[in-house]
Amino acid sequence: MAKRALVTGSSSGIGFAYSKYLMNEGWKLDLVSKNKDKSQKSELILNYQNAEFHNVDLSKKESIADIVANFKTPDLIIANAGIAINGAIGQLNEREKNDAYYLMCGGVIDLIEGFVPKMIDKGSGRIVIISSIGAITAMPKSSIYSSIKSGVYAYGKSISAELKHKGITVTVSLPGYVRTEAHKRAGLDHLESKIPKWMWVTPETVVKETEKASRGGKTEIIPGIVYRITKPFLKFQSAINIWQSMTKRNQ
Ligand SMILES: NC(=O)c1ccc[n+]([C@@H]2O[C@H](COP(=O)([O-])OP(=O)(O)OC[C@H]3O[C@@H](n4cnc5c(N)ncnc54)[C@H](OP(=O)(O)O)[C@@H]3O)[C@@H](O)[C@H]2O)c1
Repeated sequence: MAKRALVTGSSSGIGFAYSKYLMNEGWKLDLVSKNKDKSQKSELILNYQNAEFHNVDLSKKESIADIVANFKTPDLIIANAGIAINGAIGQLNEREKNDAYYLMCGGVIDLIEGFVPKMIDKGSGRIVIISSIGAITAMPKSSIYSSIKSGVYAYGKSISAELKHKGITVTVSLPGYVRTEAHKRAGLDHLESKIPKWMWVTPETVVKETEKASRGGKTEIIPGIVYRITKPFLKFQSAINIWQSMTKRNQ
């Protein structure tokens, strides 16, 4: 029988590429995103009868509660939905911070904790969390984003160890710059020209390498060879300075 995957943030970028990949592998899909028009466009492109499309705001606690209560238990969870956040210290208001925290950290935890007991009963399952390389490096002017992604990274690593002997694998993916709509949506479209071509990874590469790591039972993966090579240097102040000058706006 075909296995069932739940993908959040399925309508574009990494989530869409993941949905397409799983479709080609014959999975049944529960695809969740917020904007109805965008979701319908993705539905037209995928044109897949084994996919159900759901439109909810995942920054709200009740949306996650509804999914946990009403969706069939997935064999694979791809916790991917998210946004890029641009803002120096103190620039984000309370609501922006709380919504972002729930969307990319608290809600991911509630979603996973809602389904894990049922996955344990089944004795199998895979969980993939899309974090960011920002979880392990300083991100000046994106400190909230970085702290959210660190939180979910720490959570993923811990439950990976906890669930290891229960037939469930947990893999946290830490992508660098990925060519998606995320930066434009956050008003960071200048990055398109400022970040050198070799630093961009495609959503398809993220999916391919993350899936390989997940199937191999790995706890974490940094997609893209460039980021794997540079990882040891990310902790140095000089690397942070270079990154800061590369991503600075001209005006
Ligand atoms: N792009 C990068 O460079 C990069 C690097 C590292 C990590 N990441 C992470 O990768 C994940 C996917 O991002 P992406 O780059 O693929 O961005 P994207 O193309 O903008 O896709 C984001 C997806 O998340 C959904 N989403 C956003 N807010 C939502 C909400 N409140 N409720 C429900 N769905 C919501 C979007 O649906 P709607 O359009 O309907 O809102 C969309 O399907 C994020 O967690 C991001 O932090 C991205």
